[in-house]
Amino acid sequence: MKAVRIAASVVVLLAVLAAGLWLGGHPAKLPGFLSDAFVDGNAGLNVEATEAIEENYFREVSPDVPVEEFDLWDGTLPPFGPEAAAAKMAVFAGEEPRGAAWSAAIDTFRRFDSADRYVFSVPMWNGGIPYILKQFIDVVSQPGLVFGFDPVAGYTGLLRGKRAAVIYTSAVYGPGRGPAFGSDFQAPYLEDWLRWAGVDDIRTIHFRPNLATADADEGRRQAHARARDLAKRFG
Ligand SMILES: Cc1cc2nc3c(=O)[nH]c(=O)nc-3n(C[C@H](O)[C@H](O)[C@H](O)COP(=O)(O)O)c2cc1C
Repeated sequence: MKAVRIAASVVVLLAVLAAGLWLGGHPAKLPGFLSDAFVDGNAGLNVEATEAIEENYFREVSPDVPVEEFDLWDGTLPPFGPEAAAAKMAVFAGEEPRGAAWSAAIDTFRRFDSADRYVFSVPMWNGGIPYILKQFIDVVSQPGLVFGFDPVAGYTGLLRGKRAAVIYTSAVYGPGRGPAFGSDFQAPYLEDWLRWAGVDDIRTIHFRPNLATADADEGRRQAHARARDLAKRFG
């Protein structure tokens, strides 16, 4: 058994816009002056909760489970453009898909499929998921690997025996806060994709909102407690 931690948790865009040159990494690693401007004491929950899962998972379930972190920003996630899209559609036409883009997509799928347990770290970006996570979904969602399709019966998820934990954060949006605080296309989208792919066992941690709220500390404490509890039954 192997677990993959999928980290889309990067809040660098504001810094990139402001500084124009700093790319990659968690905001906690930003240069000091940017970190002060863009990262407050409430940031980083996603990383903390992910680590809490890993620590408890190791301690309570199995110290021998190999864990691989798939940092979606580390440059190993291939693009999925017209060449790859054409290869994908060739499958539907009953043809043999070809090309380097297709091979790269299949390699990424195999990396993903090699794990049985997933931890997704997902900040809300503009109401939804960060584009790099959507890119990951577009890369790995291939016919015959992640899904099957029948013109009458529709889609069938092909992943089997997987379990996912998802950590959701958002700075402003929160359930029940009203439309002025945004809408949730983050959790529904990701969980719909997981189920569509065949991952029915989904456990979630929400820390939303984590910034524009008076009681962030309590929300953080609850998220940590949930992460520890969830980790003990994650194996
Ligand atoms: C590009 C971008 C878009 C964002 N859009 C939203 C949003 O629509 N709603 C919201 O509540 N927070 C939004 N945020 C805030 C992030 O969701 C928040 O900083 C993140 O969840 C904190 O995660 P962390 O605790 O792991 O650092 C956005 C942040 C960035 C960088």
